[in-house]
Amino acid sequence: MNATVIGAQLGDEGKGAMVDLLGDTADIVVRYQGGANAGHTVITDNEEYHLRLIPSGAVRGNVGIVGPGCVVDVAMLFEELDSLAERGLDPEVYVDPRAHVVMPYHHALDRGEEDAKRKSLTVDTTGNGIGPAYEDKAGRRGIRVGDLTTSAELDALLNDVLPRKQAIATKVLGIDAGEAFDPERLSEQYQEFGDRLQEEGRLLDTGEYLHDRVERGDTVLFESAQGTYLDVDHGNYPFVTSSNPTTGGAIVGTGVSPKLVSDGAVVGVVKAYLSRVGNGPMPTELDEPAAATFRDRVDGFGTNTGRPRRIGWLDLPMVRYAVRVNGFTGLALNHVDALAGLDEVKVCTAYELDGERLSTVPPSSAEWTDCSPIYESFEPWADRDWSEVAAAGFEALPANAGQYIEFVGSELNLPVYTIGVGPARTDTIIRQHPIRE
Ligand code: IMP
Repeated sequence: MNATVIGAQLGDEGKGAMVDLLGDTADIVVRYQGGANAGHTVITDNEEYHLRLIPSGAVRGNVGIVGPGCVVDVAMLFEELDSLAERGLDPEVYVDPRAHVVMPYHHALDRGEEDAKRKSLTVDTTGNGIGPAYEDKAGRRGIRVGDLTTSAELDALLNDVLPRKQAIATKVLGIDAGEAFDPERLSEQYQEFGDRLQEEGRLLDTGEYLHDRVERGDTVLFESAQGTYLDVDHGNYPFVTSSNPTTGGAIVGTGVSPKLVSDGAVVGVVKAYLSRVGNGPMPTELDEPAAATFRDRVDGFGTNTGRPRRIGWLDLPMVRYAVRVNGFTGLALNHVDALAGLDEVKVCTAYELDGERLSTVPPSSAEWTDCSPIYESFEPWADRDWSEVAAAGFEALPANAGQYIEFVGSELNLPVYTIGVGPARTDTIIRQHPIRE
């Protein structure tokens, strides 16, 4: 059975660990959106890997594909491949020639656009050029991975687009159009990348390949990056990324039939508390210093950017919306250990807005900001050796944590497939395997 792994909140839910866990049953892992804005951590028995573009499953021997819906920082891709090679890994990684390339000028424009915005509208992007690359794709002036392999085509595209990019940089955004906008330099550098992609045999038609493999009985894992609320259509616009991390993205971002996705499991990865990097409403947000105390207990800083994460209680109206948008078949509830040792544990079950009770998130940011959380409180549980708990299984969880987990599953009317109590591969308790009988 195929599976899709999606963040139910704002990213950083622990999707990498879930993909890694399912990787022992899957043959191929495909990324379908986003780019190097992702930061997926995989901790195997004694190694820790931080991946931004390469699908997480590749470190455990799955075929990894960067699908056509992604935007690819090719320089970063090779950096990742080279650093894995230094650690003795040579993963089978392919890139779709239809995927768009994140060029150096996209990075510069991303930063320039953020600086030019009114503070309340800044998105606090990761600065990886994601928005400008997707803008160029939608504007039909993008450069695709396949274009890097034909020097005449690449030169024609660069010479066409760069004068306009330079003008936007200098005349609109007031930034220096330096080397990142130099057509000759870019042409030389990106042709080399194109040559290397070809020499290493890394180009692949994703949709066709996946259909062939599924016909032969193989299993595909669709790996999303970011989270439901960062989806450009279904997320908290404008505080979103520029792609579709939700289930629909797995179809358009790979080129497979919807049945390949909808006949499989759709795992909603949920963090037992809430964190957010960047601007936007967050009704259950903790004030300082409570947030700082919590942040110090957990890994409260962005994987790529090191920025402090905003912290809040688990917000079920948010997750309910994600369940509907994505059609989750079950949940992976992560970071349950992070709630240990608190005085009380709270979960937001609904909102109050203008005297009305809402069970899910309203579409406008302004309304969402005005929502007051309605909480359910839980008896706390003490900290302990979570690796031992994970080894002993679900019954070894503290009773209060067990109640909390049952409550989340019943409120969302879904099985809780797995419970994460630590970062290592062995720290996930499997209650019901999402894809293995
Ligand atoms: P961009 O994707 O770099 O354009 O950033 C857009 C928004 O998505 C910003 O608020 C980022 O902080 C957020 N974002 C992008 N990627 C991630 C991620 O992997 N985890 C959490 N937040 C992310």
